[in-house]
Amino acid sequence: MRLLVTGGAGYIGSHTVLELLQAGHDVVVLDNLCNGSLEALRRIQAIAGRSLQFVQGDIRDRALLDRLFAQQQVDAVVHFAGLKAVGESVRQPLDYYACNVAGTLNLCQAMADAGVFQLVFSSSATVYGDPAQVPVDESCPVAEPTSPYGRSKLMVEHLLHDVQRADTRWSIAILRYFNPVGAHPSGLIGEDPLGVPNNLLPYLSQVAVGKLDCLQVHGNDYPTPDGTCIRDYIHVVDLAQGHVRSLQFISRHKGCSVWNLGAGKGYSVLQVISAFEQACGRSVHYIIGPRRPGDIAANWAEPSKAERELGWKAERSLASMMADTWRWQSKNPQGYR
Ligand code: NAD
Ligand code: WQD
Repeated sequence: MRLLVTGGAGYIGSHTVLELLQAGHDVVVLDNLCNGSLEALRRIQAIAGRSLQFVQGDIRDRALLDRLFAQQQVDAVVHFAGLKAVGESVRQPLDYYACNVAGTLNLCQAMADAGVFQLVFSSSATVYGDPAQVPVDESCPVAEPTSPYGRSKLMVEHLLHDVQRADTRWSIAILRYFNPVGAHPSGLIGEDPLGVPNNLLPYLSQVAVGKLDCLQVHGNDYPTPDGTCIRDYIHVVDLAQGHVRSLQFISRHKGCSVWNLGAGKGYSVLQVISAFEQACGRSVHYIIGPRRPGDIAANWAEPSKAERELGWKAERSLASMMADTWRWQSKNPQGYR
């Protein structure tokens, strides 16, 4: 297939573009580079031994999208482009709704006018809010997300269901990611956050490599076995392969379907720290701090719908997530810079 990948120069997008190239697809990446890297795209092409096309631009630029669809014979769109920092979304909600909601609306309008009706969308486990029970499956109610970021994902989910109901030519995969971590085993591509990271793994690995002094564990008084929060960490290469499978599915089935992409296992913050220490062979300085507002005690996926329908399940262990994160961080202490 010939694919347009929005946000393909970012963390999950870059790993997915690599898997798509390796699966034989042709890829055009559209990215405004607000949080992506051209170096990632260079490295992907080196690993795959194949080239891709890159267009620098914004999903909100309708004229650009129209030109792009007119010039390229796109069969399907894999849509990663968006803003993703939960705390920033609380301070700058308009930016999040403009980019994530209005941007996706613009993209869907351009797709419909160009006759492109296959779409894979990056949603998030955050749409489950604070779930009444874990693990969560796709039939669990989508609750009130805890941030404008989460609401922007839920709004887009509703938008996509409505669009597909109104025009059954659409074939849409909504993928709810749990906590993507890790890096490609080559150590050539990985997560490269701007500034001080918000997420656990980039923070932990920057402490281990000496860029940051100390990790703060956000609370150890949760109702979990060791008191720290539990999440479902999924290796980014497994996640990327889930996109390849979902594209195969939507090329054969019409409709708008939702799948959890998680490993189906929960690990606490302290378990992750300990696994990371094993992987990097050193101890990592951490202290216990207060709870972080908006955090929930536990969330992990019931991922069997994806296994049944897509033939996909996460294969990589927590140890390999940690080893691959460390390989990337230690080989690239300054990220792509
Ligand atoms: P990322 O920031 O690394 O990648 C997003 C990419 O989109 C970046 O390259 C950025 O430059 C680009 N981009 C942003 N706004 C754009 C715009 N208006 N036009 C064109 N390009 C734009 O993030 P990621 O971790 O790779 O996440 C990819 C997607 O997955 C996002 O939609 C995110 O919300 C979603 N998601 C991420 C996680 C996570 O924990 N990383 C979890 C669930 C869902
Ligand atoms: C994991 C655990 C923290 C940093 C977020 C978004 C979610 C999705 C994935 C996009 C939590 C603890 C963290 C630190 C810590 N993104 N932690 N010290 O919050 O589960 O999910 O990313 O869709 O929407 O909310 O991920 O990596 O920030 O935190 O103790 O310095 O690590 O409290 O328990 P989270 P995270």
